[in-house]
Amino acid sequence: MYNIAVIPGDGTGPEVIREGLKVLDAVSAAEGFKIDYTHYDLGGERYLRTGEVLPDSVLAELRQFDAIYLGAIGHPDVKPGILEKGLLLRLRFELDLYINLRPVKLYPGVETPLKDKGPEDIDFVVVRENTEGQYAGAGGILRKGTPHEIAVQESICTRMGVERCLRYAFEYARARNKKKKVTLCGKTNVLTYVFDLWERVFHELGAAEYPDITRDYAHVDATVMWMVKNPEWFDVIVTENMFGDIITDLGAIIQGGMGIAAGGNINPDGVSMFEPIGGSAPKYTGQNAVNPMAAIGAAAMMLDILGEKKAAARIEKAVMQICTRLKSMAAGQMGYTTSQVGDMVAESI
Ligand code: IPM
Ligand code: MN
Repeated sequence: MYNIAVIPGDGTGPEVIREGLKVLDAVSAAEGFKIDYTHYDLGGERYLRTGEVLPDSVLAELRQFDAIYLGAIGHPDVKPGILEKGLLLRLRFELDLYINLRPVKLYPGVETPLKDKGPEDIDFVVVRENTEGQYAGAGGILRKGTPHEIAVQESICTRMGVERCLRYAFEYARARNKKKKVTLCGKTNVLTYVFDLWERVFHELGAAEYPDITRDYAHVDATVMWMVKNPEWFDVIVTENMFGDIITDLGAIIQGGMGIAAGGNINPDGVSMFEPIGGSAPKYTGQNAVNPMAAIGAAAMMLDILGEKKAAARIEKAVMQICTRLKSMAAGQMGYTTSQVGDMVAESI
């Protein structure tokens, strides 16, 4: 029996989470385990109604669950930053979800914008550091609104934070057992302090504890070029928070788009949070048109981390099967509605 906190959130979040829960119900029944869900109405609507983003009491409750299943955060009527920082980033920081794990895997039959590339070429994961860098919020604005104003936003990287992220990436490459290669994505030629630290720890740790894993380095600008030109070179990419944010949107597009890209915010020793990485898609809200595969994939990642490997694999297999039947991964162009796609995946299980 697992206790899962569900935060459907904003926009199309509730629509895709509904399908994820459908699939979780199907797989838990088939595999013989139970899930108890507790729903939380956090997000833009609640904020506009009550002024609350993430009450401390709710945060305390969230710590008690086996995992958190999140739809999307971001509301067109709320100033950018309030919900993102107050809810999503606060959860990442407070629960110390220091890994953002984002697989980039092209399923058979899914269209990629990359010419002449197929599922055998696009299969890697990005391990994004999730609690430091520019996201740490260090800095500020002085003399705001005057000709002398100054804005500073610093990147904070700690040895502890860098090391635990690199360790996760090495362990992941070992467990994945494919190319057994970790590529550090950085910018050692310009960000000479931050990536000096990253690069030193990368080689120290790799040489001492992971001699079986090949170490590779690419600047972030080159990384995005190779992701388009030779994605088959990658196995595990590890990088700091902001670079990871940027390159995983590119990753999502080459694996078929935001409708299919799932991610996990992971604390390997605590409660982790799983989400489709696409966002709240206000344009499509309430239309039953967006692709729920990303949310379903996030549910599979959640079960995998909870130790239900067989159930997770079963969802992935069903997703792969149903993907071949969709006309497109894009919202409104699937040939089916959001709930029909959820039904098809659940039935396939
Ligand atoms: C993501 C999102 C978030 C981020 C935003 C919504 C704060 O883009 O999960 O990638 O920048 O991390
Ligand atoms: Mn992002």
